Amino acid sequence: MHAALILGLAAVLASAGLVALSGSATAQTTLASAAAAKGKYFGVAANENYFNESAYTSTMTREFNSLTAENSMKWDTVQRNQGQFNWGPGDRIAQQARNMGVQYRGHTLVWHSQLPGWVNSGNARQAMTNHINAVLQHWPDAAYWDVVNEAFEENGSRRNSPFQQAMGDGFIAEAFRIARQADPDTKLCYNDYNLENPGPKQDAAYNLVRDLKAQGLIDCIGFQGHFNSGNPVPQNFHQTLQRFADLGVDVEITELDIAGSGSSQAQQYQGVTQACLAVTRCTGITVWGVTDKYSWRSQDTPLLFDGNYNKKAAYTAVLNALGGSSGGTSGGTTVGGGDNGGNGGTPGAGCTATYSETDRWGDRFNGRVVITAGSAPISNWSVTVTVHSPQRISATWNGSPTWDGSGNVMTMRPNGNGTLAAGASTSFGFTVMANGNWQAPTIGTCTAS
Ligand code: G3I
Repeated sequence: MHAALILGLAAVLASAGLVALSGSATAQTTLASAAAAKGKYFGVAANENYFNESAYTSTMTREFNSLTAENSMKWDTVQRNQGQFNWGPGDRIAQQARNMGVQYRGHTLVWHSQLPGWVNSGNARQAMTNHINAVLQHWPDAAYWDVVNEAFEENGSRRNSPFQQAMGDGFIAEAFRIARQADPDTKLCYNDYNLENPGPKQDAAYNLVRDLKAQGLIDCIGFQGHFNSGNPVPQNFHQTLQRFADLGVDVEITELDIAGSGSSQAQQYQGVTQACLAVTRCTGITVWGVTDKYSWRSQDTPLLFDGNYNKKAAYTAVLNALGGSSGGTSGGTTVGGGDNGGNGGTPGAGCTATYSETDRWGDRFNGRVVITAGSAPISNWSVTVTVHSPQRISATWNGSPTWDGSGNVMTMRPNGNGTLAAGASTSFGFTVMANGNWQAPTIGTCTAS
């Protein structure tokens, strides 16, 4: 899905009173809604291996409105063996994004790393052509694709790779040309790290973007944004972003993580957020993981949520920089509202709960329950979901579940989304292992306070 479509969808939801985009007196309470109110997205690198951990999924679903597959759309997952495509892991990311009603970024098509050994300088051109065509055909609804990743050394020279060896400097333009032809609608990006500071690597990327733009081949540049104490967020970062934006491309922070803790980490996160806000063509920020414990450099505690999914100071700094606030008194958070095909509302004291099945695959299905406040605002709600044996709920998101002794009855309460204005909605979701029984769960009466 394209960014414009996402924003269009958000506008429709806003007009239905489901999401406040701007001009609202109430502060936005999640990164996603606060960023959307500024016309940006706030994304996360998602790893399907953790989708069965409910705190992971609920945090991802509540806070972010763009997903990037941390690993599962890379070459060594998608085509580890020549001509044999493994779409399953990446499909889980794409489907998760679709379920959430948000965009996903494709990462990445042509990269020297996580590249299987069968790709060599002898077959790299043909392999690259086939790979790009197959992947873009399979995931045509990605908002962006990182077509080429990390092609420059620190001194601005080209990094050695089978692609560089086979095709020379022209391999990048060739990759973009193939991608453009395969999917004219997806935004095509160059993505790299250590571009944030002026210097030869930044200049090399600048010249590349300028040349590709002149040929109509590129739409965006990704600044990965991996920072640490030796490589802090530069003061003039917004100027760098603007320098590239002036070439006529979107700029994005695509893999943000910042080593550290406490207020110094928070300040740097704030700085990146402000830099993006200062540049109209900065379309959004993606942080490289949900929780410190699963970060590729977890010892650096570089993310916005700690290992127990608590919000860190860095989280609050980003939310505040986006104009949001955790301490909002009303307005609530709406994620993934707008169900179709619900099975009817259940009237209760001050709220209704409406169930719909949103996805079915293999041995399981996803359900969503939309909670809608009645004619008065509410600050809490609860609803039961009863599954029918031998069904089992294997994951939940956007709510806090508790269980009865049998494991069949789940009582769902809010997870940061309890406060709803009159008539406003929020939703939670869950995955049911069908175990051969595809009956819809029974939704109890919604109670509010
Ligand atoms: O899947 C295998 C598993 O079968 C095996 O048992 C295990 C043993 O080490 O490895 C697993 O693969 C690992 C893979 O992540 C999936 O978990 C690789 O070893 C590991 O190297 C790989 O790390 C990823 C790294 O890219 C690879 O270069 C990180 O998770 C991922 O966060 C990181 O992301 C990159 C961006 O794509 C590009 N920019 C830099 C960024 C950080 O390095």
